[in-house]
Amino acid sequence: MDRYLVQGGVRLEGEIEVSGAKNSALPALAACLLTAEPVLLNRVPRVRDVQTMLGLLARCGASVSQEGGCVRVAASDLTSTEAPYDLVKTMRASSLVLGPLVARCGRARVSLPGGCAIGARPINLHLAGLERLGARIRQEHGYIEAEAPNGLQGATIHFDRITVTGTEDLLMAASMASGETVLENAAREPEVTDLAALLGKMGARVEGAGTSTVRIQGVSRLRGAEHTIIPDRIETGTFLVAAAITGGDLLVKRCDPGHVSALVAKLTQAGAGVSEAGPDGLRVRTAGRLSSADVTTEEYPGFATDLQAQYMALMTQAEGVALITETIFENRFMHALELVRMGADIRIEGRRAAVAGPRKLGGAAVIASDLRASASLVLAALVAGGETVIDRVYHIDRGYEEIEKKLRAVGAKIRRVKAA
Ligand code: EPU
Repeated sequence: MDRYLVQGGVRLEGEIEVSGAKNSALPALAACLLTAEPVLLNRVPRVRDVQTMLGLLARCGASVSQEGGCVRVAASDLTSTEAPYDLVKTMRASSLVLGPLVARCGRARVSLPGGCAIGARPINLHLAGLERLGARIRQEHGYIEAEAPNGLQGATIHFDRITVTGTEDLLMAASMASGETVLENAAREPEVTDLAALLGKMGARVEGAGTSTVRIQGVSRLRGAEHTIIPDRIETGTFLVAAAITGGDLLVKRCDPGHVSALVAKLTQAGAGVSEAGPDGLRVRTAGRLSSADVTTEEYPGFATDLQAQYMALMTQAEGVALITETIFENRFMHALELVRMGADIRIEGRRAAVAGPRKLGGAAVIASDLRASASLVLAALVAGGETVIDRVYHIDRGYEEIEKKLRAVGAKIRRVKAA
């Protein structure tokens, strides 16, 4: 397994560019299954989860080609409607093919994802929604089997709790259901809005994406389209924190500042100097001490759970005690124990972590437990004295495009050691 070796203590300086959003690319790729015509997607990040999704589309019979960030998917003849366990177990977002396959082919067989490092993460709300659209759902041998031989019918679906991929799955399914579907208590994440924009170009009739009520008038056929994926807001946030934690001066380019407002507000409160640099740039210039600022994760536009781990690394360097409350996932503090091994003072009680700082961190051997946890360990390693060895970096490869190369270009001393 590959590892990172990081020598801490360098201020990051320069310009760093954000890639397309992984969590937008994944539903956009799944949406390609809805049409027999080719779909062209630009700015698709070259990360492991995207490769897994491309593999899944290919197994369904789609023809897939990729050149740099440009991906072309042509799903004219689908030969399989199954998402097998060997793919789903490596990426839970595989369940995003459920809605499109049932809508286009009248059936789908998708493995249940099983356990996850950050929480139980069931897909019951996706299934309840599909049932409301008239699909028959059975669960057998670890697989979900969904059938709608006569097509899906529009309905009102009220999500018991906000789910991002659940909203996306149902948005895709409803695009080809007959009549009107209303999604209530829908996720408002920019990735949902981006998916709706792609679906619109494909001929879907969607209104209200980005608000909690989304209305879809189903159509019988969708066409091919070309679409550019939005910037990755979590990568953006990770770079903002990288600048703040190293006391650096970084221009984060090709981002959408509006998508990271909750983080920017907290960074500002903590004393990091963040300013807008044109319509798609953010500059962080931090001089002097950071002070602690409490955070509670929430659905968008609140503070993203996907930035909680990175923010926790930052708070180890801030004066005072920061309370970090995780409300989205029940087990998303695995990074805290690794940060403690590096010298952080973090106490966890249920869903709340109290981070006392500033503490001098020292390099240590640590293990990445999930994608965002890995990012937080890289950030902590950037300020730790000496060398940090981060094991299992395959987690970070799932969602960050060439992170070590990008960080190295702004001064970080980070290198990958390939597994023997
Ligand atoms: N939930 C249910 N039932 C469901 C669906 C969700 O109980 O059917 C619960 C979950 O267990 C969780 C909460 O609802 O406690 C919210 O989960 P959500 O469905 O919104 O998460 P997701 O769609 O599986 C996406 C991102 C995650 C991100 C979350 C929250 C993608 C591919 N994944 O997951 O991203 O943390 O939304 O914003 O979009 C990551 O990129 O590292 C990542 C984990």
